[in-house]
Amino acid sequence: MQYIIRVFTKGLLASSGEHWKQSRTFSLTALREFGFGKKSLESKIKEEVDVFLDVIGQQNGKPFDINALAHSSVSNVICSIVFGQRFDHDDKDFKWLLSKIDLQSASPTSLVNTFPVLRFLPGDFFGIKTFLNNLTELRGYFHTSVDKHKKVFDSNSPQDLIDAFIKERPKHDGDDPVFKYDNLDFIILHLFVAGTETTTTTIRWSIVYLLRNPEIQVRLFREIESVVGVSRLPTVADRPNLHYCEAFITEVLRRCNIVPLSVPHGALKDIDFRGYRIPKGCTILPNLDSILSDPELFPNPDKFDPNRFLDAEGKFCGAEKVVAFSLGRRVCLGEALARMEMFLFLTSFVQRYEVVPVDRDDLPSEEGIFGITYGPHPYKFRAIPRG
Ligand code: HEM
Repeated sequence: MQYIIRVFTKGLLASSGEHWKQSRTFSLTALREFGFGKKSLESKIKEEVDVFLDVIGQQNGKPFDINALAHSSVSNVICSIVFGQRFDHDDKDFKWLLSKIDLQSASPTSLVNTFPVLRFLPGDFFGIKTFLNNLTELRGYFHTSVDKHKKVFDSNSPQDLIDAFIKERPKHDGDDPVFKYDNLDFIILHLFVAGTETTTTTIRWSIVYLLRNPEIQVRLFREIESVVGVSRLPTVADRPNLHYCEAFITEVLRRCNIVPLSVPHGALKDIDFRGYRIPKGCTILPNLDSILSDPELFPNPDKFDPNRFLDAEGKFCGAEKVVAFSLGRRVCLGEALARMEMFLFLTSFVQRYEVVPVDRDDLPSEEGIFGITYGPHPYKFRAIPRG
C-alpha cells in the first residue's frame, strides 16, 4: 500500500476487512442521524451558503480568489456534523484547523510514496514531514474535542457524530479496535480530509467553467430564474426541476476529474483479472480518468458540455456514467453530501451574482495542478450582484 495512505492506518480510508466495514457502518449511520437525508443537513448547508454569499458581496465586485472562502464554508458543514458546531470564519481555532487540513503537498504520485525511505532525507523536499506533523496535530485537536464531549455527554440527546460514537462504544467489546477513541480520531480526520478539499475544488472548477463559458452561465441563471425565481434561494426540493444545473454540476465532476487516481487500494491476495495476475500486496491505483474521458461514453471528451447530460426533452440523464466518486463497496461515503453542497452553493451563487473575468484575454486555465486532488491554478474573478 502507498506510504501516504498507510500512515492513516485506521479509520475509514486506509483500513480494510472487518475494521473498515464496522468503521464505515458506524460513520454512515451517524452521518444519517446527524445530517444525510435529513432536512437538518440542508439547513446546515444553507447557513453556510448565506455566509458565503455575504462574504462574496463584501468584495464589492473587486477581483478576489474564492479558495479560502469555499474551504471555510465546506469545512464548516463537516464541523456541524462532527462537532455539533460551526465556526466563525475568523475564529483562531478554525483558521488553524484549516491550515492543517491543507494537504496539497501530499500527492499519490510523489516519489516518497514508492520509496518511503526518502522521508529520512534532511529537509522536507517532498513535504512529507509537514504532512505527517499536520496529521499528528490534527489528531491531537480531535482528541481534545472528544474529551470535551465526554464531559458533557447526555446519552438521551446525542448531538453529533462524536456523541454517537460515545453512545455506541459500550455496546462493543472493550478490546474492539473500531470503538477505541484513537479510531474515532482517524474517522474524524478522514471525513475532514476526504470531505473538504474535494468539494472546495469542485466549486473552484465550476467557477473556472462559468468564466470560460458565459453562455452557459446565462442558461443556468435563466433556468434558476424561471423555476425558483429570485426572491428566495434554491432548495433541495428544486433539484428535480433544475435539469440544466444538475447537468452542469455533473459535467464539472466529469471534466475536472477531481480525484483522477481515486484512493489507492491493495490486493489482499493474488487476483487474476482479464488475463493479468495482480500479485498479493500490490498497490492498485484505479484510473477514473480512463472512464471519465472515454470517447465512447462521452463523445469529444475534452469539450466542456453540460448538454451531454440532457435527453431530447431537456431532462437531466446519464449521471450514472460519471464515476467521479468511484465504484463498488469503497465508493465515496460522502457523495450525497457533496452533491447537495455543490447544488446549493452553486445555484445560490449563480442566482445572486454574475461571474466576470478580471481579464477577458487571460481566462483561468483548464489545466490543473495534481496534488491529492486535481485542482485549478489559483485565479481571481469579479462577482457582480445581479440587479
Ligand atoms: C466532489 C466531492 C467528492 C469527490 C469527487 C469524492 C471522491 C471520492 C473518491 C474517488 C473516493 C475513493 C473511493 C475508492 O476508494 O474507491 C472517495 C472516498 C471517500 N470519500 Fe469522497 N469525494 C467527495 C466528497 C466527499 C465528502 C463531502 C465526504 C465527507 C463526508 C467524503 C468522504 C469520503 C470517505 C470517508 C471516503 C473513503 C470511503 C471508504 O474507503 O470506505 N467525500 N471519495
